[in-house]
Amino acid sequence: MDLLTGIQQRKSTRAFAGQEIPRAILEEIMNAANRAPSWSNIQPWKFAVTGGRTLDAIRLALEEKAKSGVKPNPDIPFPTSFPPEIDARRREFAAMLYSQAGIPREDKESRKAFHQRMYRFFDAPHGIFVLTDRALSEWSLLDCGLAIQNLILAAHAFGLGTCIEAAVASYPGEVRRILGLPDTERIVCGVAVGYPDAGAVINKLRSPRAPLDSFVYWYLG
Ligand SMILES: Cc1cc2nc3c(=O)[nH]c(=O)nc-3n(C[C@H](O)[C@H](O)[C@H](O)COP(=O)(O)O)c2cc1C
Repeated sequence: MDLLTGIQQRKSTRAFAGQEIPRAILEEIMNAANRAPSWSNIQPWKFAVTGGRTLDAIRLALEEKAKSGVKPNPDIPFPTSFPPEIDARRREFAAMLYSQAGIPREDKESRKAFHQRMYRFFDAPHGIFVLTDRALSEWSLLDCGLAIQNLILAAHAFGLGTCIEAAVASYPGEVRRILGLPDTERIVCGVAVGYPDAGAVINKLRSPRAPLDSFVYWYLG
């Protein structure tokens, strides 16, 4: 697939067909992630690729935490405020997402249920956690982001759908416990990966983007 076409076509997938991904394809995707550039080529990313019973245990643990009302405690704090122009985009997107999911604004229960599905990696056959050493600086998060982008574009090239998820980083202690990871590994976020459910309406959502002149300042002369 042509790189620019892949970039333009890719969009988040939030409903998956059950079919598992062959190990060889998963390895190709992870190798693509690993080709990302990084500060002095330190390659600060690590990935925990989960599936099967391990992923089921994680889904259960995250859902239980959320259901019992435990406040999220991510390793990288979630943002709590946004400048107005940015906040407007966030709100617009949330409205689009719930509308696409067929959830009316005032239906709090259905919204909660939709959130629970995030903790389940939207029932994708695989959930990939992005990890990085706690001792590294914020620059490493930039490196991890580049690797994640490679990952999701490579997945797209294989006909797979992905959804990057901060939600699954809400209770990092649970993830480390189940995966047997040391406390030195920060859980950056997760990525749901699987073959898209072609019939699912939620997967038809195409998120908007601001026009070119609103985010590029030109100084060419
Ligand atoms: C760091 C990060 C965290 C995200 N967390 C979530 C999440 O928890 N749940 C979710 O449904 N989507 C999540 N997303 C997906 C975004 O909502 C999505 O990328 C954005 O709306 C643009 O849509 P697109 O990916 O279809 O282009 C996240 C994306 C990023 C980059």
